[in-house]
Amino acid sequence: MARILSILSAFAVLSAEVYSAPAPHPKYWFAFGDSYTTTGFNITTGPLPNLSNPFGNPAYPGIGPCADNLTNWIDDLTTVYNKSLIFTYNFAYNGAVIDESLVTPYLPTVLTIKDQVDQYLATVASRPESTPWTPENSIFSFFIGINDIKHTWNASGSRTAFDDVLLDDYFGLVEKVYDTGARNFLFFDVPPVNVSPLMLAEPVASQTTQGVIIDGFNARLAARVAQFDLSEKGVKALFYNGNTRVKQILKDPKKYGFVDNSTFGIDSSQYCWCNNYHLSPGVHSYFAQDITELFDLTFTSF
Ligand SMILES: *[C@@H]1O[C@H](CO)[C@@H](O)[C@H](O)[C@H]1NC(C)=O
Ligand SMILES: *[C@@H]1O[C@H](CO)[C@@H](O)[C@H](O)[C@H]1NC(C)=O
Ligand SMILES: *[C@@H]1O[C@H](CO)[C@@H](O)[C@H](O)[C@H]1NC(C)=O
Ligand SMILES: *[C@@H]1O[C@H](CO)[C@@H](O)[C@H](O)[C@H]1NC(C)=O
Ligand SMILES: *[C@@H]1O[C@H](CO)[C@@H](O)[C@H](O)[C@H]1NC(C)=O
Repeated sequence: MARILSILSAFAVLSAEVYSAPAPHPKYWFAFGDSYTTTGFNITTGPLPNLSNPFGNPAYPGIGPCADNLTNWIDDLTTVYNKSLIFTYNFAYNGAVIDESLVTPYLPTVLTIKDQVDQYLATVASRPESTPWTPENSIFSFFIGINDIKHTWNASGSRTAFDDVLLDDYFGLVEKVYDTGARNFLFFDVPPVNVSPLMLAEPVASQTTQGVIIDGFNARLAARVAQFDLSEKGVKALFYNGNTRVKQILKDPKKYGFVDNSTFGIDSSQYCWCNNYHLSPGVHSYFAQDITELFDLTFTSF
């Protein structure tokens, strides 16, 4: 009898698999950042990520690094290099800084990382029925610092002390996200925007000074990520050194399919920059490919 029952239940499982539509079982990506990451998602208006648009809203690919309908790294990772279905909740917002109490953003309406984390905490952090993420099937990415440095690099005072103030605040926010059950993390460093076309129009001394500041911030960020990875139980935290990748591309642009390292435009895939301060979709695609390789080593399920 037991044998018959087990055969019958095996059949029930099999027929359920054969005859009902497969459930999607997506992975969940929660992204925090600035214009290098935003796609213009609005969690309040919806729709939420779903099978017809893994970003939910606006229509794919939404806002790009320099203009609507240009793709960025998270578009590529969600829809091109994904090895399974990923629903991406992208809280990133143009012009974001970490916290407006530390650095004033270019407009008061900008949603900072603090605001974005608050928005996450007020919506999907509690794992509502709409968004059944778990610590295992989710990843949380942070790509921030470009605007914090852009607005403060030339200020007086100790830079390293201020970097520590920024990073204390940043990782306080990361801890809040950790407390909701997040365990898989990806952190980006700050790209070399000191050699963006905007900065190439400035004196070489300014480019150099800003470059030293970016490198210093990135080194301290890398140390924080390593510390977070070691000290927090269950965390897998990846640090993506996109800064070095961009420097390689700018040093030898032709090797990567670009005409040079300073011309910019949205009308062509041959430029490194799509405007005077943003890396082009072509460079973003290299970011996505690099991160795919990092994932293969760390998050086999992604
Ligand atoms: C989302 O849309 C609402 C309603 O239009 C608006 O008030 C809010 O600022 C938007 N949020 C984001 C993140 O764009
Ligand atoms: C899924 O997303 C698409 C595109 O944004 C939207 O038109 C549709 O209403 C959404 N479906 C659900 C069930 O939310
Ligand atoms: C990658 O994402 C796209 C867009 O959501 C989806 O259609 C495709 O099935 C996904 N690829 C895999 C291997 O799951
Ligand atoms: C940076 O600050 C110095 C000293 O205040 C000033 O002379 C210089 O013009 C500033 N450079 C830029 C690019 O803002
Ligand atoms: C950009 O290209 C010029 C000309 O080849 C080169 O001198 C410069 O070092 C490059 N910039 C970077 C950041 O590699």
